[in-house]
Amino acid sequence: MKLRYRHVIFADILLTFISVVLAAMLRFGTLYPEMTHLSRVLPFMVAAMGIRPLIFGLAGVYRRLWRYATHRDFGLLVGAVLAGSLVLFAFTMFVLVPLWGDSFPRSAILFEGMISLVLLPGLRFVLKETERYDEDIDWVKAGVSAQRRVLIVGAGDSGIQTCIQIQQNPHLGLRAVAFLDDDPRKIGRETHGLPVYGPLIKIADVVREKSIDEVLLAVPGAPQQTVMNIEALCREIPVAFRTIPYFGQFLDGGAGSMNGPASTLKVPMSMPDITAQEIEEVVRVMQSRNLSIGMRTVEFERLVADVARADHAVAVTNGTSALHLCMIASGVGPGDEVITSPFSFVASANCILFEKATPVFVDIDPVTLNMDPGKVEAAITERTKAIIAVHIFGQPADMDPIMAVAKKHKLVVIEDACEAIGAEYKGRRVGAIGRAGTFAFYPNKQMTTGEGAALVTNDGEWAHLFRSLRNQGRDKFDGWLDHSRLGYNYRMSELNAAVGVVQLKRLDDILGKRGSVADVYTRALSSIEEVEPLQISPFTTRMSWFVYVVRLRDGISRYEVITAMEKLGIPARPYFAPIHLQPFYRKMFGFEPGMFPVSEAAGESTVALPFHTNMKAEEIDVVCRALKDVISEMRKETDR
Ligand SMILES: Cc1ncc(COP(=O)(O)O)c(C=O)c1O
Repeated sequence: MKLRYRHVIFADILLTFISVVLAAMLRFGTLYPEMTHLSRVLPFMVAAMGIRPLIFGLAGVYRRLWRYATHRDFGLLVGAVLAGSLVLFAFTMFVLVPLWGDSFPRSAILFEGMISLVLLPGLRFVLKETERYDEDIDWVKAGVSAQRRVLIVGAGDSGIQTCIQIQQNPHLGLRAVAFLDDDPRKIGRETHGLPVYGPLIKIADVVREKSIDEVLLAVPGAPQQTVMNIEALCREIPVAFRTIPYFGQFLDGGAGSMNGPASTLKVPMSMPDITAQEIEEVVRVMQSRNLSIGMRTVEFERLVADVARADHAVAVTNGTSALHLCMIASGVGPGDEVITSPFSFVASANCILFEKATPVFVDIDPVTLNMDPGKVEAAITERTKAIIAVHIFGQPADMDPIMAVAKKHKLVVIEDACEAIGAEYKGRRVGAIGRAGTFAFYPNKQMTTGEGAALVTNDGEWAHLFRSLRNQGRDKFDGWLDHSRLGYNYRMSELNAAVGVVQLKRLDDILGKRGSVADVYTRALSSIEEVEPLQISPFTTRMSWFVYVVRLRDGISRYEVITAMEKLGIPARPYFAPIHLQPFYRKMFGFEPGMFPVSEAAGESTVALPFHTNMKAEEIDVVCRALKDVISEMRKETDR
């Protein structure tokens, strides 16, 4: 929504106007400045109303979504206000005074600078506080204190700033619990209501005793080696940690780049759509004390079967284990071959290796990026047992010709629909078009269960086998210590299933919203010649948007685009790197570049942009602007 930017620019101009009026009131010592007063500051007012937004634009202040602003962004803003004051001072002295004579009240410049320093950052502060999305969870309303407990390393200025940010931003879902510092004068005292523990070497004890979920390293002045040592300790514990940037890094980003430093809190690459309902259901499971093999899983399976319009669904731990069970059910074993796509997530082929069979890759269609059905038959040998058709990025593979060739050669077809829950191929839901299919629910997927997946099939015997295999090989009427076959523990917990039940009930809404986000992206990117959105085939009667992937035109390096985007604080991912070129595939099977040219070309040119169900037009705008800037910079480089 480009209007947003115009609003903010307009507000800046208005606030600058107010600053000058207030400055005039201070300068002339009156509450009611007269026209004679105002006319003396008028040229300065006009200059300020132009110069301040101009400097903000150059400094990158208009690039930011203030919802994600950190103290670094505010630092940049204050720097831009001060820079604006300097420019205004110089402009007044060297241009306005010579033109208008000495009557200009110079102290008004100082007053205006001071007032701007309050009003302009104040506006951003209000934006940061009020930029709330409908989908933000009200933790208090949800009745859950679902916050990550944070230990701040460093009780100095940076640590205190971090603490204040956490306390003032409940939407971050963080709760500062304590500080950790080496300074004996601070240890044992309280800072900002939090105890200060120490020395740093005690970090593991503090993390354990205080049930810390995340460590924030706020010691920008400390030697780099110290920071690296603390990071190593965190890895060893293990506990999640984040490092607040060094002052030097701040300067690098701030001074060197017109776009301003990257935010520490970025537009997220992906984000699960979790509401208070999911939280309530998880709490209910906890209260029930029945955490595995219960009614939530049964309900979850019924809902998954409904979505896929399949007879059976079986919940498991993740997409990889679901694919593994499909290989076992297909009777795939040593010496067998299984055909699949090289342009996918590595698990699509790894599942074949789990059973010591050989993956046979078939190159992809350049438009849908799915397995090219015309190339399947040529890959079939007498050892071929099955075909895994992957529905990449949520777009169905062309199933009819794949099913026809499989029927002709009596091969099993498995659908790797891990990225495609709810997608439709010629009006049919994916998943159970083949003998069985898999849906995965990692947090970056359309819907999530945390970790988890489900198998779907219309084959009752296979459903029974899947249930046995995921449950240590127990058959339906086996006792807990009876095992009819070699099995695994691939069971989904009731907690995961509870999240999945709510997500499945909301799935149509989620897919609809993701479709709208994708539409906004496609429209916004239409003006960038070098970027091509994913094409939707006419047989895709319902797209299930997993990620938003674009293809870069020849000559544009995906690596360079991703690196440059990251520098602007915008994440982007190289989805996918062809499986056959992964080091261990090359080593095991002797694959070489050039063997699957269409996949390799896609692997060099496709980039996934930040994408999630509740992504706002403003966020998409920020991403597209960054991509546009990055590409035009690259264009300039090549023209040089
Ligand atoms: C196409 C495909 N297959 C399989 C998987 C494996 O799923 P999981 O990560 O749940 O094991 C994924 C996961 O992203 C995937 O994208």
